[in-house]
Amino acid sequence: MSQALAATKARNRRSKWLVIGSIIGILVLAGIGTAVGVVVSRNNKTSNSSNGSSSSGSTSGSTGNSSGPSNVDIGDDPSVFDLDPRLHKSFYGMAYTPHNALIELGCGNTLEGTIADIQVISQLTTRIRLYGADCNQTAQVLEAIRQTKVNLEVFVGIYTMAEDHDAYLRQAATIREAIETYGTDHIAGVTVGNEFMLNWVTGQGASSPNDAIAKEGSDILVADIQATKQMLEDMNLPKRVPVGNSDAGSYFATDVMEVMDYGASLLSNVHAWFANTTEAESAQWVFDFFDEFNVRPAAALANNPEMYIAETGWPTAATDAGSSTNGFGTASEAGLQTFMDTFVCQANAQGVKYFFFEMFDEKWKEDKFGGVEGFWGVFNGDRTLKNVVIPDCPLA
Ligand SMILES: *[C@@H]1O[C@H](CO)[C@@H](O)[C@H](O)[C@H]1NC(C)=O
Ligand SMILES: *[C@@H]1O[C@H](CO)[C@@H](O)[C@H](O)[C@H]1NC(C)=O
Ligand SMILES: *[C@@H]1O[C@H](CO)[C@@H](O)[C@H](O)[C@H]1NC(C)=O
Ligand SMILES: *[C@@H]1O[C@H](CO)[C@@H](O)[C@H](O)[C@H]1NC(C)=O
Repeated sequence: MSQALAATKARNRRSKWLVIGSIIGILVLAGIGTAVGVVVSRNNKTSNSSNGSSSSGSTSGSTGNSSGPSNVDIGDDPSVFDLDPRLHKSFYGMAYTPHNALIELGCGNTLEGTIADIQVISQLTTRIRLYGADCNQTAQVLEAIRQTKVNLEVFVGIYTMAEDHDAYLRQAATIREAIETYGTDHIAGVTVGNEFMLNWVTGQGASSPNDAIAKEGSDILVADIQATKQMLEDMNLPKRVPVGNSDAGSYFATDVMEVMDYGASLLSNVHAWFANTTEAESAQWVFDFFDEFNVRPAAALANNPEMYIAETGWPTAATDAGSSTNGFGTASEAGLQTFMDTFVCQANAQGVKYFFFEMFDEKWKEDKFGGVEGFWGVFNGDRTLKNVVIPDCPLA
């Protein structure tokens, strides 16, 4: 299946899901994992005159902020760059996709753009997760880490689709190649699948991740997870690279959880926005949902897989007025600020592992899905910081 088709299905499935509305809103962002992102220009070279105001001009597009970076400046030596005093390494992890690293977007990602992004991301966290491996994004991110010499580990991703096994094979091969080139020093794990079971189950008009219909899908996913484990084992790597999985918080199949080896991470999307919470209630909702629907069930399994929040955040804008509220909260920078202020340091204190969603606004999601999908970045698409204050509680 083409990625365009995958994306379309993702949208259908989202509407369906909203209609079904059953399980408390776990989300489902267009995780179209494969990809994406934007890249570029670093705003920290000379101190920031920008303050989150969009850096004007050069980007096209009707809603400038979420389009890509307008210029890229990585300096002569990418490992030498000014630190932005507004940024703090307070995030456990960050969800990131290089700009336009999507086949349907012509693989517009560049090494330079990725380097510029990594310079900024490394001031916020020591961990990132990628969603897919197409468009050479794995190697580019590892090369960017090599050149910038920053302390960053990567949960690399393989975006799997039931209808397109070639996509799995292609991405697994590029991950093998990237590990052969760059080694495992900066690889924290491989995530196979992103919302695979959510897509499968809702695509069949079903709702349980654990019934007979779901099993047909989880068999496919489990086979890909096993194949990835085997591939890594056959490589005789100096360190064990755990293979995990990512899905919407209510769609973990037990047999997928049970195939996780020790240390493997199960990444769960937990979005208060789609559960229709207010800003003030959002963080507590995320903590409660994650604990009840992910952490406890995982702890009850013999292999005790480690649960991480794969995505959590708050959108700052929408393409239309109707989408700018979930009925209780509003998509706004103030909302993102409230969510960050009530989630980030609190999660750190509780030892909750999470990837904040997400680093940059992604214009292609705005174009393709509309609504709030393109506006989850801590940064605008043009690489300027949104009008928010980054929590200051650096992790050791
Ligand atoms: C959230 O509100 C929207 C709009 O009223 C509704 O369609 C949706 O089902 C609600 N979602 C949940 C999880 O309650
Ligand atoms: C940036 O933010 C600081 C602190 O809020 C403010 O003093 C300054 O005027 C802002 N600069 C711009 C260009 O908006
Ligand atoms: C771009 O971001 C700035 C600062 O966050 C905001 O004031 C402005 O309205 C945004 N522009 C668009 C088109 O979203
Ligand atoms: C992938 O990216 C790496 C790092 O920039 C580069 O060395 C390599 O040539 C790229 N491979 C392809 C096929 O573009």
